[in-house]
Amino acid sequence: MKTFLIFTVSLIIITFNSQAADLDNGRTLHTNNCLTCHTSNMYTSKTRKVHDLAALNARVKRCDFSLGTQWFDDDIADVAAYLNHGYYKFK
Ligand code: HEC
Repeated sequence: MKTFLIFTVSLIIITFNSQAADLDNGRTLHTNNCLTCHTSNMYTSKTRKVHDLAALNARVKRCDFSLGTQWFDDDIADVAAYLNHGYYKFK
């Protein structure tokens, strides 16, 4: 019984972790936290500095850090995915 329970819980955790990025979570976090220093115009500006997914993730991480929100990696990934989906559109 105990083994079965551990197996089931592990399966749930694995399934949960392998889910695609949660764009709704990303949007909510971004709207509630990220528009105090800059607007979203920056993401579509001709002079934007982020040119690939890795840089986008790094930038979200850095801005999260300066904001002091201490998001989990999953939240960073959700916000980066949301920004990519809505603005950057990197492949
Ligand atoms: C404390 C102020 C501040 C907050 C809050 C902030 N940012 Fe930023 N962000 C900046 C600054 C300053 C830059 C421009 C840096 C540069 O030009 O090199 C920037 C740039 C960016 C860029 C890159 C834009 C480009 O050039 O393509 C992204 C993406 C970004 N921020 C995302 C976020 C996200 C996501 C959040 C919420 C966690 C956030 N920012 C919150 C200050 C902030």
